[in-house]
Amino acid sequence: MTEKERFDPHIEGVSAEERFNLLLDRDRVIPAEYTNLIAKQDTRDNKERFQRTEYSETWLDLHGKRAETARDFFKQKLTGHPFIDLGGGIGLMRGIASEFGATEYINVDRQYHENLPPNPFEIRHSAPLGNKQNACEIDVHADMLDFVSRLKDGVASFTLNGIDYSIVDDPEYHKALAREIIRATRKDGLIFSIRSMALSEILEQLSMGEKLPVKQVNLQQETGFKLVSPLGHYIFEKVE
Ligand SMILES: C[S@@+](CC[C@H](N)C(=O)[O-])C[C@H]1O[C@@H](n2cnc3c(N)ncnc32)[C@H](O)[C@@H]1O
Repeated sequence: MTEKERFDPHIEGVSAEERFNLLLDRDRVIPAEYTNLIAKQDTRDNKERFQRTEYSETWLDLHGKRAETARDFFKQKLTGHPFIDLGGGIGLMRGIASEFGATEYINVDRQYHENLPPNPFEIRHSAPLGNKQNACEIDVHADMLDFVSRLKDGVASFTLNGIDYSIVDDPEYHKALAREIIRATRKDGLIFSIRSMALSEILEQLSMGEKLPVKQVNLQQETGFKLVSPLGHYIFEKVE
């Protein structure tokens, strides 16, 4: 592996595009099973899954005064690394990404465009993140499983919010997504969600005794902060 191929988030003076490209493995062979799962979603006649929603809003409580200890926990895990929002919609998590010191906030959303094919390798839009130097936000128009499958191992932290069966109706897709997210999460990085089936899948596998390189985090036990989330939330940390 050359120096250029290795992912190093601390490279100064490297453009958003170059940093984005360093996260991706363009030669990775995507299993035919994934291609079929993605194609099946793409041909669904259900435009409601592209609706604007605000499930992520719950995490905005982390900006509040009471949440200082929880903020410290998230900052410790996210600062200096890429943070990827799968199905991020209008990008409500951008402020969290900025406050927690992410180097990139990448919002991967398969919004519906009649004439715009999805492309996991293309930056649709990029801009500085907050008022930080060397941090950027990037929009990618792609299927989330397609995108995560193209990432190198262990490069980022992830959030998914509102990605349930009304958005993706196939349990096998959520299982594949869970597998790929775990692979692409960096050691000590986080995977967290409000109401997302891929994370319910991770919890189910852990509770059945499967050996996965992640552990569930109880935010209240860890930090004393109770996140009020009627729709349920999960946080996992990659441990190896
Ligand atoms: C219920 S909304 C959630 C939006 C946002 N995360 C929130 O917190 O409200 C689902 C989002 O997933 C996007 N989406 C639907 N299917 C997708 C897919 N296969 N890959 C990527 N994004 C998808 C939709 O465009 C929509 O923005």
